[in-house]
Amino acid sequence: MKRCFIIKGNICYSESKSKLKIFENSYVVCEDGISRGVFREIPERYKDFEIYDYTDKLVVPGFVDLHLHAPQYTFRAVGMDLELLDWLNTYTFKEESKYSEEKYAEKAYDIFVEDLKNSETTRACVFATIHKDATKILMDKLEKTKLKTFVGKVNMDRNSPDSLTENTDSSINDTLDILEYSKTFDNVFPILTPRFVPSCSDELLERLGETGEKFSIAVQSHLDENFDEIKWVSELCPWSNSYADVYDKFNLLNDKSIMAHCVYLNDDEISLILKSNSYVAHCPESNANLASGIAPIKKYLDLGMNVGIGTDIAAGSSNSMLKAMGEAIKMSKLRWRLVDNDIAPLELEEIFYMATITGGSFFGKVGSFDSGYEFDAVVIDDEDIKSTMKFEVRDRIERAMYLHDKCKIASKFVSGEKII
Ligand code: GUN
Ligand code: FE
Repeated sequence: MKRCFIIKGNICYSESKSKLKIFENSYVVCEDGISRGVFREIPERYKDFEIYDYTDKLVVPGFVDLHLHAPQYTFRAVGMDLELLDWLNTYTFKEESKYSEEKYAEKAYDIFVEDLKNSETTRACVFATIHKDATKILMDKLEKTKLKTFVGKVNMDRNSPDSLTENTDSSINDTLDILEYSKTFDNVFPILTPRFVPSCSDELLERLGETGEKFSIAVQSHLDENFDEIKWVSELCPWSNSYADVYDKFNLLNDKSIMAHCVYLNDDEISLILKSNSYVAHCPESNANLASGIAPIKKYLDLGMNVGIGTDIAAGSSNSMLKAMGEAIKMSKLRWRLVDNDIAPLELEEIFYMATITGGSFFGKVGSFDSGYEFDAVVIDDEDIKSTMKFEVRDRIERAMYLHDKCKIASKFVSGEKII
């Protein structure tokens, strides 16, 4: 049941890409799961609403993780000695193969789901594996958390180990089965998930594009992450103008598509992403760990691209969106210093906007406390970051990003439901 209540605390959310709105010890009102805005005093019409008193704590809209791999959570923070293609073959595919066994999936997904529930993430776009039954197990578990998630059964029919190579027909049929299965959920939505061009034949991509159009289903994949990957795609699809062109030709780029990474988009690809209104999931920690490169995110933002943030577990080691936000700022500084002095580093305000409003817009009217938005909120307790100094709210948000492991999540609300 959607509830009516008020949260009191230090409320912070985005006014625009360059400005935060901050209200110290004020009140944000939730009515039937929808935000009614922030007030310095409780308006008369809401005076009967229950109050959650988080005086002095930080209250922000939830963070949206636009890209992560649930089955890879088991091996997070190991195996960072390789670049993408060798990393996939050495670590990732071996681990993902284990999800053919439901017992293994049960155990592994319990750990993943519990940790995601307790993180600062309120919504996420998640890759599962090729396995239909394990994907259903993941969906069932996520549904119970009341987090809002898109979950994709991965499609792979070439250039993969035998244990992860599907027959094209069964890849499509299992995807359709998952679409049917997900109709019973309130919180979990299906998303088409061709892993990336090297592991999907032209026929598979074409049929997924048709499926997406027919049933109006979102899409997630990887694009322009690594030099060897990009070269391989040009050899596999000699008919294409670019990597992004392959997805575009098969109708997989639209305003419900998320392309992870986009480190090396060329001008034609930038035009395709802009024209289609596709989302870019910037995954800074992953790009550092696999030595993939540094995406020119500030440039993408200034061009008006929809850029959100992803943790990319397990090429990213942590499921913390606060950490990912800090990493995005650090990476943009290195790029400015070492690669291109004309592209300024990202600012905290831009990163906050990407992690709340832009990521949130993939789910609808989400990511703000302005009246009319779905009510998601995370209450951050930063009292363990000891200091002799007293900090303003903006400084405390910055400290929460850089010292995320010292922060506790005191409470979390998704679409008006208190989930922790
Ligand atoms: N490209 C294709 N698969 C993957 C994956 O699992 N992780 C990352 N980072 N890139 C990919
Ligand atoms: Fe990924």
